[in-house]
Amino acid sequence: MTASQPMNTRRIVVGITGASGAAYAVRVVEMLAAQGVEVHVACSNLGKRLLAEEAGITKLDADALSGGRGDRLVMHPGNDVGAACASGSFQHDGMVVVPASSNTLAKIAHGISDNLVQRAAQVTLKERRPLVIAHRESPIGLTEIEAMRKVTEAGAIVAPLSPGLYLQPKSVNDLVDFMAGRLLDLLGVEHQLPIRWDEHLAEQRQATANRHSTPR
Ligand SMILES: Cc1cc2nc3c(=O)[nH]c(=O)nc-3n(C[C@H](O)[C@H](O)[C@H](O)COP(=O)(O)O)c2cc1C
Repeated sequence: MTASQPMNTRRIVVGITGASGAAYAVRVVEMLAAQGVEVHVACSNLGKRLLAEEAGITKLDADALSGGRGDRLVMHPGNDVGAACASGSFQHDGMVVVPASSNTLAKIAHGISDNLVQRAAQVTLKERRPLVIAHRESPIGLTEIEAMRKVTEAGAIVAPLSPGLYLQPKSVNDLVDFMAGRLLDLLGVEHQLPIRWDEHLAEQRQATANRHSTPR
């Protein structure tokens, strides 16, 4: 697939940066591709390193990143600020930066575009398209809090990579799926990932807990 194809389906830009959590990026790309979305991928230099170290993806290749759905992906050189998605004329339905490093968060907050992830994010904001920043760093200080405030005021959604535990995850994959599902929700892309809170589930759990509790 090439970036110059006419838009006949949904397009989402995925920026991958050098924060821990490469698995989140892989799962988001996989799920978007599985939903038939045209996925435009930009990866920072440190993002490539994290994909290699955490996900074993040493060659940034469309099939490796999408679980065999490489036909849905357009891979852009991460340092090419002249790529299609660096321009406001490139129409898309939203961008997610996942994982988003504090460095990239700060650059977006201050309108600095040193690489394609930052430039595409900046353009997404100026064109008033959805931008989701899935930040990962803990703890955070005033610098990150201020950067989060700035990007939020500029129209972005900050979605910290902080999966909920209320569905009682059994594995790392469950945690990754939880966040991937929430990010797809924020991008308005349908999915079947099991992330929905069900009040009946809570009632059943409470009833089970009551049955097993020791009588006074
Ligand atoms: C193994 C490793 C893990 C890192 N994890 C994080 C992280 O979770 N959050 C973060 O903000 N930075 C993290 N960093 C630091 C960033 O990679 C560094 O600030 C880098 O400049 C980010 O560049 P980028 O935003 O262009 O990807 C990590 C670096 C390495 C090598």
